Amino acid sequence: MNRSAGRLSRHRRGRLAGAVVLLLGLVAAGSLYSLVSTGATSSASASSTSSNDELVSEGRKLFLVSCSSCHGTNGEGIETLNGDQYGPSLAGVGAAAVDFQVGTGRMPMAQPGQQAEAKPAAFTQDEIDALGAYIASLAPGPAVPDESDYSIADLTEEEQQEAIVRGGQIFLTNCTACHNFEGSGGAMPRGGHAPQIRGVEAKYIYEALLTGPQQMPSFSDGNLTPEEKRDVIAYLDSLDTNTGYGGFGMGGFGPVAEGLFAWVVGIGSMVGFAVWIAAHSTRSKRKKATA
Ligand code: HEC
Ligand code: HEC
Repeated sequence: MNRSAGRLSRHRRGRLAGAVVLLLGLVAAGSLYSLVSTGATSSASASSTSSNDELVSEGRKLFLVSCSSCHGTNGEGIETLNGDQYGPSLAGVGAAAVDFQVGTGRMPMAQPGQQAEAKPAAFTQDEIDALGAYIASLAPGPAVPDESDYSIADLTEEEQQEAIVRGGQIFLTNCTACHNFEGSGGAMPRGGHAPQIRGVEAKYIYEALLTGPQQMPSFSDGNLTPEEKRDVIAYLDSLDTNTGYGGFGMGGFGPVAEGLFAWVVGIGSMVGFAVWIAAHSTRSKRKKATA
């Protein structure tokens, strides 16, 4: 009796330890890979982040080349002869608007049209930061939010669930009119459309709320407190991770994060399953032997 209990716990401990070692190994291998693969780009940027002034002047250079044809040489906007706009004034839109518009590939627009579409970004994050610093230097505007503004990772499991529920209610009252019930988007007047907002990176959701792109209203902190913004994002994120039909929205965290995820969870669960099968078959054999 005693002996068999001891053997069981030893057996179990051994299996647990094996799983932990395996997981640690996978995480280590994954992070090493991500370090190596991002090392090349980050070493280039390390030298360029000296002072804000430099960032602003670097941003101004990029702006003159890629943006000034529509937004004017000083970001003041350009009107066409019939009063339409090639590009609106960017004074006061803030770094958050630039990060959203350029980061989601909406800007630079190929040609002025109905609505700028999201597409792969044409600039690196460093260049986007420089452009944002330049625009923010024209007039104060919303800054790029920090991860702590939109992440619920620090909350307890229960608080996270509550945040998601609150977020769902906020979404229902504020967003479904345009974005539809599951955030799948819908048509807007004058030929525009509210895009699907599933799988959009949390930072860009927060920035869209702050800056109100195109026909979307902006949700200032008076309309939606920072905490309410965070909750909506938690809700949208939960839609992406809880889909029952196999679609798994990683939300564009980038190839490294997604690769790491696939590495740890994908391969990890396969190995884990193999270990489980092995453990099971030996245990049932042993049972038969003692029976
Ligand atoms: C071909 C013309 C064109 C070019 C080039 C262009 N834009 Fe725009 N931009 C527009 C138009 C038109 C709008 C407004 C319509 C919209 O938001 O969809 C706009 C809107 C924006 C906004 C949002 C302003 C707000 O009120 O929130 C930002 C920020 C912006 N542009 C930044 C840039 C930056 C940075 C570049 C260069 C990398 C750039 N644009 C290049 C035409 C252009
Ligand atoms: C009046 C209609 C309207 C309402 C209400 C509205 N949106 Fe939008 N939203 C839009 C439109 C239109 C766009 C597209 C803007 C563009 O392409 O420049 C947009 C864009 C977005 C984007 C960017 C998606 C992408 O592809 O990058 C996000 C995220 C977003 N909305 C979230 C929300 C959330 C969350 C709410 C509620 C708190 C909300 N919106 C309320 C009309 C709306």
